[in-house]
Amino acid sequence: MIATSVMPDFRHAEQEYCAKTSSEHRKKYAQFFTPLSIATCMTDWLISSKQGTTMLLDPAFGLGHLLASMDADRLANIEIVGYELDTHAFSEASRLWDRCSSITLRNEDFLVHPPESLFDAILCNPPYLKFHDYDNVSAIAKINATFGTTLNGFTNIHSLFILQALSCLKKGGRAAFIVPSEFLNSDYGVHVKDALLKTGMLRYVMIIDFSANVFKDALTTSCILLFANDEHKSRVEFLTAQSEETLFTLQESVQMYPKMNGTSQAVSDIIPAAKWRRYYQERASEQYRNLIPLRQYGKVSRGIATGDNAFFTFNRAKQQKWHIPDKYLLPCLTKAAQCGDIAYTNANHSRNLKANESVMLLNAEIGENEAVKRYLKHGEEQGTHTRFLTKNRTPWYALERRAPAPILVTVFNRNGLRFVWNEANVYNLTAYHCFYPNLFAQGNEKLLFAYLITDVAKEIFRDNRREYGDGLEKFEPNDLNSSLVLDLSVIDSDVQKTIEEHISHMLFQHSAGQKAVETLQALNEIFVSLLVQ
Ligand SMILES: C[S@@+](CC[C@H](N)C(=O)[O-])C[C@H]1O[C@@H](n2cnc3c(N)ncnc32)[C@H](O)[C@@H]1O
Repeated sequence: MIATSVMPDFRHAEQEYCAKTSSEHRKKYAQFFTPLSIATCMTDWLISSKQGTTMLLDPAFGLGHLLASMDADRLANIEIVGYELDTHAFSEASRLWDRCSSITLRNEDFLVHPPESLFDAILCNPPYLKFHDYDNVSAIAKINATFGTTLNGFTNIHSLFILQALSCLKKGGRAAFIVPSEFLNSDYGVHVKDALLKTGMLRYVMIIDFSANVFKDALTTSCILLFANDEHKSRVEFLTAQSEETLFTLQESVQMYPKMNGTSQAVSDIIPAAKWRRYYQERASEQYRNLIPLRQYGKVSRGIATGDNAFFTFNRAKQQKWHIPDKYLLPCLTKAAQCGDIAYTNANHSRNLKANESVMLLNAEIGENEAVKRYLKHGEEQGTHTRFLTKNRTPWYALERRAPAPILVTVFNRNGLRFVWNEANVYNLTAYHCFYPNLFAQGNEKLLFAYLITDVAKEIFRDNRREYGDGLEKFEPNDLNSSLVLDLSVIDSDVQKTIEEHISHMLFQHSAGQKAVETLQALNEIFVSLLVQ
């Protein structure tokens, strides 16, 4: 029996740790600590197992927040093994837990030195790091080979943690992970979801949809994944918690396991390649008809990636300072905020130039010029040519070959997607994606655009969004390519004429600096009627 005082005061410990550890260091190791409500939900799943818990593994221990909701008596009777790669966090954790003799901490990389023994309980908030931010690259190939997976460079190492940890789970054991939920609805997540289903152990996916971020400092939405290594393999239940209170009621439904309720899905019906949002959220597109994928009208591609925006972009003052002639600078939107409306016109561009906005992009390849040469030399002196993208280009300052697109769309959004009519025919960096119409849309670009800017279109696009927490949403090009839009062929010629008049009027209102709320509303009504007919 151990005394209650072995339990660290986490609030205090975390504050102290964060005060003496730089944010760069915490970011490098992805040190985001689990709040008590989440830790409680995770430990409840483990301890409600009939088998009981004798050996518990935490592969990414941090300061040990995941043990916070366990009572000291229970802790004393469980043999706990924690891994912590960062020597700094490891020594803090060792100090915090030094009176708890049932905990063994290992200052090692869990992916490289997994434990030899098996555990009946696993708790984990794995580091959320992209593969290229992780040093032990060989571990990735090893895990792919062991688990027969093809997790690629876009995957996050948290998926490796899950697979490796589950291979340490005893028969009858249970595991709980808290991870960012992005993979549920992204392209790279397909392999991860496939691998998770293949373990035959996934039982609950609990989406944490709180209005505030769960993790301080981390812009991400999360989900709790609960696993059991038992025979009840046929169903997975998807649950959503909008607040800490609902999380508490969801726990009650988890306590009914192996009984699951109506929101559960047969494993055989769960499609790894689909966005799993369909299993836990109503999809707007289901209420409407006459929808086809946007890709039938063209292609969304990401904007130009320069490799060093500060070097390649110019405002007027910088142009004058370096004496760069106009012909070496392309008009270019470099930030989302440079265009706040439905269109970007020559007048908007001139205003941006006057306001000294960086709306020009260096195009140094078109010929020799002394001033440009001097500027390129300056780039080499500061190492721009050795950056990740530039070092793989010949010459290093070559631009991606990409024509200006007639329609642009914002990548990150708080209030729905924003499509922009690119009247000024400017280039764009990655704050916007480009939409290039194909033969089926040619001639009907404005008609399509009129639909894209409506509220109903935005609502349907949201079916394919990625959530970053705090209301921030992101769309990758393929999220948009596969989104559903109105099949324009259902529009008869009279309605088409009306829509075209509205959109021309809106563009006129934009040029005149007027708000177009009513016209937009009228367009929305027309399109809604076409989507329900
Ligand atoms: C997201 S934090 C979670 C900390 C703690 N378990 C919690 O829930 O609050 C992940 C922790 O894993 C550690 N870590 C990162 N990479 C690791 C690795 N390869 N092996 C073991 N620990 C690692 C980090 O230093 C960090 O403390």
